[in-house]
Amino acid sequence: MLNINLEGKIAFIAGIGDDQGFGWAIAKSLAEAGATIIIGTWTPILKIFSTSLNTGKFDASRRLCNGKLLEFAKIYPLDASFDTPDDVPEEIKENKRYKDVGGYTISEVADQINKDFGTIDIFVHSLANAPEVKNPLLKTSRKGYLAALSSSSYSFISLLNHLGPHMNKDGAAITLSYIASERIIPGYGGGMSSAKAALESDTRTLAWEAGREWGIRVNTISAGPLPSRAATAIGFIQQMINYSQTNAPLPKNLLASEIGYVAAFLVSPLASAITGSIIYVDNGLHAMGVAPDSPSLQGESESCQ
Ligand SMILES: NC(=O)c1ccc[n+]([C@@H]2O[C@H](COP(=O)([O-])OP(=O)(O)OC[C@H]3O[C@@H](n4cnc5c(N)ncnc54)[C@H](O)[C@@H]3O)[C@@H](O)[C@H]2O)c1
Repeated sequence: MLNINLEGKIAFIAGIGDDQGFGWAIAKSLAEAGATIIIGTWTPILKIFSTSLNTGKFDASRRLCNGKLLEFAKIYPLDASFDTPDDVPEEIKENKRYKDVGGYTISEVADQINKDFGTIDIFVHSLANAPEVKNPLLKTSRKGYLAALSSSSYSFISLLNHLGPHMNKDGAAITLSYIASERIIPGYGGGMSSAKAALESDTRTLAWEAGREWGIRVNTISAGPLPSRAATAIGFIQQMINYSQTNAPLPKNLLASEIGYVAAFLVSPLASAITGSIIYVDNGLHAMGVAPDSPSLQGESESCQ
C-alpha cells in the first residue's frame, strides 16, 4: 500500500505559538507520518506557549491517531527577524520577554539544532508578521513595509541559508502563502500582500539554488483562510471564510489538517519531483474568475427567466 512514511526524519517547524495555526497542524501530520518534530516559537510568546503545553491546555489537540500525544523533541526560542546577535537592537535585548532567553536569532538556532540533532530533513516556515497589517498598502510606512518583508519573507531565505548546510540530501522545505500575493484582497495590508508575492517568487529561485547546492526541494502551500491567531489579528478573517464558503468550487470549511496532509505529502519521497511550485490548498477558490454570490450575476439569471 502507498503511504507517507517519514520515520527517521527530523522536521524543524518555525512558527508554532499555539494549537490553532497551520504550523501546529503540519506538526501533527508529520508526526503521524513518523517524523521527529522540533519547533521554533517566537521568543515573546515562548513562555506562555510552554506553560500551556506543560499544563495540558493543548492535550486534546495533541492527540494523534495512534492515541499518543504529539511530542516536540525540542522547542527553540526564535525571532526570525534577526540573523545574528549583532542584529538585535538594545531595546529588544533588554525587553523583559527577551532578556532571560538566549540564542533566538536564526544563525544561533540553526547552530543549536545542528549540535542537538546533527542533520535534519525537513524545514517548515509557518510564520508571518506585519506591524501595520491593518493599514492599506498606500498608507503603509517604509518601516512597516520593510518589517513585513523582513519577518515574513526574508526569514525564509535566511532560515534556509542557515539550515541548508545541516540538511540531508533529498530534504524538503515548505513555506505558507496566501492568494493576496497575486490577487487583490482589500484589508490584507501593511505590505503583507507584497511579502507573500516575494515569498512565492523566492520559492522558485530558492528551489533552483537549494536544489543545486544541497539537493533540497522548496515549495509553497497557498492556503485558504483559517481563523488562526495571526489571521484573527488582521480583523477580517471571518468574512474571508464566509466568502470562500459561498464562492469556492468546494463550499465547505477549510480545516488546518487539510494543509497538514498536503505538507506531509510535499516533504515526503512521494513528492520527489516537485520543487519550485505553489500548491493551492484552498477548496479551489484561487481558480474562480467570478464570485457566484455577486448581485450582478443574480440580476442576469433573473433576466434570463
Ligand atoms: N490563517 C490564514 O488564513 C492563512 C492563509 C494563508 C496563509 N497563511 C500563512 O500561514 C502561516 C502561519 O500562520 P497562521 O495563520 O497559521 O497563524 P499562527 O498565528 O498560528 O502562526 C504565525 C506564527 O508566526 C509567529 N511569528 C510572528 N513573527 C515571528 C518572528 N519574528 N519570529 C518567529 N516567529 C514569528 C507567531 O508567533 C505565530 O506563532 C503564515 O505564513 C500565514 O501568513 C495563513
